[in-house]
Amino acid sequence: MKLLQICFGCCIAPLVALAASNGQQAVTFHKDVEPILQKNCQGCHRPGEVAPMSLLTYADARPWAKAIKVAVGTQKMPPWFADPQYGHFANDRRLSQADINTLVAWVDGGAPEGDPKDAPPALKFQDGWNIKPDIVIEMPKPFHLKATGTIDYQYVLVKGNFTEDLWVTAAEMRPGNPKVLHHGKVWVRPPGSHYMENAEPGEAYSSGMGRNSISEGNDILGKFNPGLGAQSFDIGGTAKFVPKGSDLVFELHYTAIGQETTDVSKLGLVVSKEPPKERYFLSSGPTALNLIIAPGDNNAEVVSEVTVGAEGVRLAYAQPHMHLRGKDFELRAIYPTGEMETLFKGKFDFDWQLGYTFAKPVSLPKGTRLIAISHFDNSPTNKWNPDPAKEVRWGPQNWDEMSNCFVGLLFPLDVNPDQVFKASGPSLLPRGKPGPTLSMLQLTPAL
Ligand code: HEC
Repeated sequence: MKLLQICFGCCIAPLVALAASNGQQAVTFHKDVEPILQKNCQGCHRPGEVAPMSLLTYADARPWAKAIKVAVGTQKMPPWFADPQYGHFANDRRLSQADINTLVAWVDGGAPEGDPKDAPPALKFQDGWNIKPDIVIEMPKPFHLKATGTIDYQYVLVKGNFTEDLWVTAAEMRPGNPKVLHHGKVWVRPPGSHYMENAEPGEAYSSGMGRNSISEGNDILGKFNPGLGAQSFDIGGTAKFVPKGSDLVFELHYTAIGQETTDVSKLGLVVSKEPPKERYFLSSGPTALNLIIAPGDNNAEVVSEVTVGAEGVRLAYAQPHMHLRGKDFELRAIYPTGEMETLFKGKFDFDWQLGYTFAKPVSLPKGTRLIAISHFDNSPTNKWNPDPAKEVRWGPQNWDEMSNCFVGLLFPLDVNPDQVFKASGPSLLPRGKPGPTLSMLQLTPAL
């Protein structure tokens, strides 16, 4: 029996090679490669999206064949940073080994086109959207960018004119000019909120005018980051709530590109006719407003914490956020039972602000401590480091740092979003020594 198996193993390989060499099994673009590109690459690799070149057609993809082999072989593409040891994610972008093998075999075989009749139907994109929006809201006026220099964050109030409550199941923020919008958010400002209270609709302001706060119901409705894509809030029948009479605030971080230009960003929404079973809410999660990173430190640890203050909360999504010195990020839960679990761990790369959707939302019973552990490289060997000689603190610009994690939470409709998380543990320590670090966790019992 053993002998037979060995024989089988060595006979089959030449057979496959033979078939490939006489053309029958040749891996072709239309038959084998195009379906993989559609499923895994074209979301970004098409005109108007974040990637520099299109991979929609054979003519588009052929010149990139060698680069594709390298990019998928090294797992540089598709971008994905979650350590596979922790958590399972519905939007896991990693290619299967079989797909990698197919792409490599195609390139090694001379990247042939094959028969166009074998091609899958081309994907359809509605005016560039990755969702099919029911409502599209645009900035009322273009924002004018100067050619050079730093541009402060801009805030634009946009009237919502919603005559009914909305339950939003998906959103996509799209820049009018993808070259200049580094990242953006669209906030919901429900009636009664003081956020941007005295703002003239459509005008761009370089400060937010009154802090947006969860206690006033402000929620992030849509986000734009390189690689983030559209956001779905429908996780087994959940949606975001936009009360009637709400307005929107576009928060925009622009980068000058050496010539004057303009941008009109927009938000697309998919709405549900029925109220959902549960609410989806985006919170900033554990936040290290008190962080201190010492000059030159190549592995500075920063720890922050929130405690869950309501029943029935589940974690659906995590998007770690750091700036140019960010190296890696871990999200850890300590349950009321004392049990500890790493929910997410991964490298951090400032070029990519990826979000991770849990394959199964994680229950966070009341009293659970959610802890973020991040590391920064403030040494001269970090080529992105704006200034290794500087002691770094929390702040909005790229040369400042942040350590927080946007988290998508699901909870019952009658739960007040303000009750869901309370800053706790290391996040309550006064700003002082470098950190706060894990060693300070012990000093600060849960709420
Ligand atoms: C989330 C968006 C995204 C997805 C998905 C994606 N790419 Fe990319 N890709 C980019 C961006 C942006 C760049 C340019 C920046 C860079 O090289 O990091 C890029 C660069 C590349 C390059 C050039 C690499 C180099 O070293 O210059 C290749 C080749 C490539 N992608 C192939 C692929 C293939 C094949 C897939 C699918 C299997 C894929 N990409 C999926 C966004 C994406």
